[in-house]
This record gives sequence, structure tokens and C-alpha cells, in this order.
Amino acid sequence: LGTAGVLVGESLLSGCMNHDMAAMDMVTAPTVVEGAFTTVLPIPETITSGTALNARSQSAAILAGKTEQVLGYKNGILGPTFRVQRGSTVTIPFTNGLSEVTNIHWHGLLVPASMDGHPDQMVMAGQSFNYTFKIDQTASTAWYHPHPHEKTGKQVFMGLAGMFIVESPEEKALNLPSGNYELPLVIQDKRLDTNGAIMYSPTLEEVMIGYMGETITVNGANAPVQNVTTRTYRLRIVNGSNGRIYSLALSNGNSFMVIGSDGGLLAAPETVMSLLLAPGERADLLVDFSKVALNSDVFLQSNSFSGVSSQGSQSFKIMKFTVNKAETDTFKIPTLLNSLTSISAASAIKTRTFDIGVMMDMGSGGHGGSMAMKGMHTINGKVFNSNRIDESVTLNSTEIWEFDNTKGDEPHPMHLHGTFFQVISRTGGRGNILPHEKGLKDTVLAMPGEKVRIIVKFEHTGKFVFHCHNLEHEDDGMMLNFEVK
Ligand code: C2O
Ligand code: CU
Ligand code: CU
Repeated sequence: LGTAGVLVGESLLSGCMNHDMAAMDMVTAPTVVEGAFTTVLPIPETITSGTALNARSQSAAILAGKTEQVLGYKNGILGPTFRVQRGSTVTIPFTNGLSEVTNIHWHGLLVPASMDGHPDQMVMAGQSFNYTFKIDQTASTAWYHPHPHEKTGKQVFMGLAGMFIVESPEEKALNLPSGNYELPLVIQDKRLDTNGAIMYSPTLEEVMIGYMGETITVNGANAPVQNVTTRTYRLRIVNGSNGRIYSLALSNGNSFMVIGSDGGLLAAPETVMSLLLAPGERADLLVDFSKVALNSDVFLQSNSFSGVSSQGSQSFKIMKFTVNKAETDTFKIPTLLNSLTSISAASAIKTRTFDIGVMMDMGSGGHGGSMAMKGMHTINGKVFNSNRIDESVTLNSTEIWEFDNTKGDEPHPMHLHGTFFQVISRTGGRGNILPHEKGLKDTVLAMPGEKVRIIVKFEHTGKFVFHCHNLEHEDDGMMLNFEVK
């Protein structure tokens, strides 16, 4: 397959002599346009088992005062936030109210393969499907979104995504900030026309880097503001963007605490000044506003970061917190949050290596981006083919998977369905395991130049996908099947 890719590339290149990869590198993320930070942060409705979801066209105002058609699962853009207890069974009557196929993938939930929203499992336009599964995992922040192959990027960008919170008695006993002091934040960038309507039409260059927008949204609204009191808040953050990575930080330069990531709470809190969050990843944070002067503002922002030529050069504000009320806070951050045992590397029976840094060279610059070719993004030289099982895994076995992006020049957040994993090493690039990677993960970022190794025990049978969570890369075919049996 690798050879075939080279041949295709050469035959295309013969008519386009001045093409080279450097031309691709000139394409960069659109410059973020910050809003006014006057819209009150929308908090999606909280739902539990039994609430129907209907993917359909809705109206919503991403920019204040500019109502446009978007996609959503219930009311307005995005979907409601699930809040369910570990051990409970959840049933979600789902209707596809779109004019094309869609489905729901429960990203971060260990559901049976038949409920996972694999690209094989489509709900046709106008049809319904009952998702039902038992919540058999520790408390965590998961999310849900469509997974139709080649349409995921568009459907998510147009508004289909939501948060899914799993609670447990163990987590409740920690008395983490809850109620008004716990904020679900789905962060996404959107590209809007002058009327405030979402535009999704990636050029070939934008497939290369991921489709990004100039308008940053939180829970579907651009530049929102949330009033807070002088105490500690819990922020549950999903990076639901197609391609944009955020280096999350506070505008007052204060540190904050990471208490959880994709698969639930870390063993112990980690203090950080910033946190790089890639598409698909979650961060569970504690932010202490107790030392902030009354009636002053603190922004959640994204700092500029290095390592990716196509994005990261700009710092921008994401949302505003106005500290408007004094309140005594007796909350003490627990020193131990969760009992996590590291999977021993010695228990791994196999290591699989995935080359994610090689692109089929299809040509771009000289063609003005008009010739969108499929399949430039590959894993081990292969593009997605759902009739093929790429990796066969033995149930209950432990393996090391290595994502090798040393030859790549784009970041790839690699995601496995049907399991959590632990990150055991990163070489090249940032060269270490980051604070939020010390817990259970389902998505891990491999920056250009990096090789990331994970260890995973496969405890759920069935056919699942693993893929890059840059949704343009995924739709371009950077996804393979693995089967556990
Ligand atoms: Cu969140 Cu297969 O994706
Ligand atoms: Cu997933
Ligand atoms: Cu990628």
C-alpha cells in the first residue's frame, strides 16, 4: 500500500513541478477574532436516561443577536449534558432528523461494540435507533458526537456534540465543587459568514491542517461571560474542535489544578500554568478565584504554543469570568483523588507500531487547492476501509501501541474506541508525559517529531475503530479497525 501511495503521488506530481510540502506549511489557522464577552455563558440542559435526542436543524445565535440555522440534538446548537450514575443503565431514543446518515458515538464511554457508533452502524435519514448501555466505569467526563465516515467533521462542526458526565459515590465523597460551582465547557472554533452562519467547506489545504475557524465558542456561544464568586470552581472541559489545539491558561497568570482527564480523576491533583488540549481530549480543572479582587475579570485563554507550524502562533481569549461576589470557601483539595494502578509494561504481550507521520503526497499548491484528493492521511500507509480488520487483538490481553509521528509535520491526537489506556512514554518533541496524561486516557496527542507509547488492556469484545481525532484527518481516512475477540 505504501508503494501504491508513492506511485499515485508521482503520477500527480509529474504535471506539477513546483509542488513541495513547504507550500502546505504556509497554510495556517485563521486568526481568531475575539468577541465582546457580554453574552452570558449558556449552560446546556442536564438530562439523564430516557431523554430523546433528535439530530436536526435548529436555530441558534453563536454571535449575539445573529440567529442562524445550525445542527443540534435537542434545543439549539450542541446537545444536552448527560449526568448519570455509574452502574445505571442508560437508554437514549435517537432520531436522525437530518437528510443524510448520522449516528452517535459515545466518546469515552465503555459501551458494547454494537452501541459504540462505529462508522458501520448508521442511522438512515428519518430513522430512529435506541442506544442502550450500562455505565460500567469510574466517574468521568465523556462526550458524544456523530461518526459517519467522511461526514463526521462536517456534522460536528455544524453543531452535533454534547457532554456526558458519569458520577460515582467515590467521587461524590470527595466533595468537589458542584452545582453552580461546576461548569461544563465545550470549547470549539467555528467559521462564520457575516450573518453568523457556520460555513464548512474545507479546501485541500484545510484537510491537511484541519478545518479551523476564527470564532471561538464555549457551549455554542462566542465570547461568553460567567459570573463567579471568590471560591474554587470545577471546570469540565471538552475540546470539541475539529482541528484546533488550545493551550489553556488564565489571563492573570495564576496556576490551576488538573484533577482529571479523559477517563476520570487523576490519582492526585497536578498544578499547572497551562495545559495543551487537543481535539477529543477532556480536562477536569479546579480554578481558585478566592484571591481575585472583587469586580475584576479573569479570562480563560489560549496561549501561543510551538511545535505546529499551522497553528499556535496566536494567544486569544476564550471566555470571561467576572468575580462579582464574595463567598467563603471551605473547600480543601483532596490530596488523593482516585486509586489508579499503572499497568506494568511487563504484562504487555505485544507491541504494535503505527506510523502516523507519513502522508501520501498528492500535490496541493500548484493546484490551487481545488483538487481535493482523498486518503492523504494514513496509519501505516493505509486509509480506512471498514471491510478490513487491521488489527486483531486477544480479549483481556495487554499491549503497547506506539504512535510514531517522528516524520510528520502535523499534530495527530490519536483516539481508541472501546477502551482507556495509559501513556507510558513520549520521546521527541515535548519529550515527556504531561500532567493530564497521568490518568486514564482515550485520546493522546502526538506532535510532529514525537513518538508516543501507550499501554492498554483490551477488556471489551468487538470491532472498534482507532483514528486521528483531527476530524478532517479522520474523514480523510486516518482511521483503522481493530477487533477484540
Ligand atoms: Cu470522538 Cu471515534 O471519536
Ligand atoms: Cu471515541
Ligand atoms: Cu491527524
